[in-house]
Amino acid sequence: MRRRELIRTTGAAAVVAALPACDPQPVVPSARFAWGVASGDPTSRAVMVWTRLAVDRDTTIRCDVFRDASERELVTSASASAMPARDGCVKLDVVGLEPATTYYFRFVTEEGDASPLGRTRTLPEGEVARMRLAFVTCTNFAYGLFHGYRRIAERADLALVVHLGDTIYEYADGVYGDLRALDPPRETVTLEDYRRRHAHYRLDPDLKEMQRQHPIVPIWDDHEFANNAHTTGSLTHDPVTQGAWSDRVAAAKQAFFEWTPTRDETQVHRSLELGSLARLVLLDARMDGREAPPIDTVDWMRSDRRLVSDAQEAWLGELVSGDDVAYTVLGNQVVLAPFAALENLDAWDGFPAQRQRVMQALSAAPSLPIVMTGDTHGSLALDLPGPTYAADTQLGSIGVEWGAPALASPHFTGEASRARESMLLEATPHLRFTEQEKKGYVLLDLDDTRARAEWWLVEDATRADGNRETLTAAFEARADDRASREAELAPSPVIEGAPSLAPDR
Ligand SMILES: [Fe+2]
Repeated sequence: MRRRELIRTTGAAAVVAALPACDPQPVVPSARFAWGVASGDPTSRAVMVWTRLAVDRDTTIRCDVFRDASERELVTSASASAMPARDGCVKLDVVGLEPATTYYFRFVTEEGDASPLGRTRTLPEGEVARMRLAFVTCTNFAYGLFHGYRRIAERADLALVVHLGDTIYEYADGVYGDLRALDPPRETVTLEDYRRRHAHYRLDPDLKEMQRQHPIVPIWDDHEFANNAHTTGSLTHDPVTQGAWSDRVAAAKQAFFEWTPTRDETQVHRSLELGSLARLVLLDARMDGREAPPIDTVDWMRSDRRLVSDAQEAWLGELVSGDDVAYTVLGNQVVLAPFAALENLDAWDGFPAQRQRVMQALSAAPSLPIVMTGDTHGSLALDLPGPTYAADTQLGSIGVEWGAPALASPHFTGEASRARESMLLEATPHLRFTEQEKKGYVLLDLDDTRARAEWWLVEDATRADGNRETLTAAFEARADDRASREAELAPSPVIEGAPSLAPDR
C-alpha cells in the first residue's frame, strides 16, 4: 500500500458520524502545531485538511470537523498518523460533506494538544449565481512581507484561493531578496532542504492566516524546483555540484505534496467544478512534458515542441470544449498570449506551435475562457488575440488573460517600472493594462452576466506598515464579447451572508 492510500484509509475508517455534541472547552493552540492548519482541493462533497506536527515517531492525531465556528456541532471526526517519513505532515480527505458549505476543523493529539481552528468550504453543485476567489503567485519570503495573504485572509466571501506557483523560492540566503533570512540558508537541493524551506515559509503569520481561513488550490511553477525548470534541467541547476536533476525534482515534488493540501500526489494539473458557473482547470506548464528552451529558430518553430505533454494538451482540449459552464477559468503558470516581442521564451512564447493549438481550442470553447497567469511579477490585463484581432476595437479576442503581480518578489521600481509599462504596452497591442511595481493579488468575481478581475495592490511589501491595499485596476469580460474591458474602479460588493471567519484560537 502506498503512503497516500494508507492515510486515506486511516481517515475513512475512523470517520464517526453524528458524535454527541459536547460543550467546547476554551482551547489554546499548542506550539506543537506551529505551522498551522490548511485545507484545499475542495469538491462539492469533500475537502483535504492539512497540518504538521514535529515528530520523531509515528503519532496518532485526530481531526474534528464542525459546522460552526464555536465548535458545538461536530460533523465528523477522523484520525491519521503524523510520521517522520512524511516530515510530520498530515493530510486527510474529509468526505461526506454538503455542497457550498463552510466547515471549521481542528487537529488534536492524544495528549490533548490542539491546533489552531481552521475554516474551509466545499464547492457548489448546480446553479450558482455568483462566486469570488482570489489568485496569487510568486510569494518570495526573502524579498518581502506577505501583506497580500493577510488581506485575502480577511475576506470572508471567497470560495477558495488559487496559488499559480512559486509558492516558495529555492535560492540561498540573500541571493534573491534579503529582507528576511531563510532556512536552510543554502540553496535547496535535497529533500531535507526543500522540506525545511517549506516549513520555514509556513511559519509566516500572514501565510498561516490565509491558509487557516480559506481552502487553497496550489500548483507549482519553476521555483518549487529551480529557476526556469523543465523536465530535463533548469537554467541554474548544475549537475556537477548539485547532483542528478531527476533526484532534485523527485525531492522537490515530495516536499511540495507533503506541505500542501493537494489530493492527488502524482500530478498538479487537475480540474475543479464550480457548479454551473465555472470549471477551474489547473495546468502543469513545468513538469509534465516541458522541453528545454529552444536552441535556434528551427527548434523554436518545431510543431512537436512541448510546454505540456500530449496527454495534458488533449485533457485540456476536452475540458475547454464543455458547454455546461459559463466560464472556463485556467490556472496557468506562464504568460499564454504573445508578449513583449518574445522577451521571455520560458513562457508560452517559447512554444508557438503548441500555443497555437491551445488558442484554437480556446477559440472554439462554448464557455468564456479566462486565463489566470503568474510568473511575470507584474499586473497584466490582456486579450487573447485570435487571427482577426483588432487592437483598437478588441474585436476578434477569443478570451482574456489576467495576470497577478508577485505577492512578494523583486521587480522594477519608480521610473524603471513606468518605462517598462510603456515598453510593454508599445510592444504588446493586446495588452490593455499593466502595473509593474506593486505587489498584491487578483480578486476574481464571477456572476452570470460578467467575469470581473480586481487588482488589489499593497502599499509596500518591504515595510511592516505598508500593508494597506488599494484597488488599482478592474476589468470585466462577457461571454458575447470575450475581451478585457476596463471597468469602473469601485470594489465589487461582498457576497452577503458569508459564514464568519475562524476566530483566532
Ligand atoms: Fe516568480
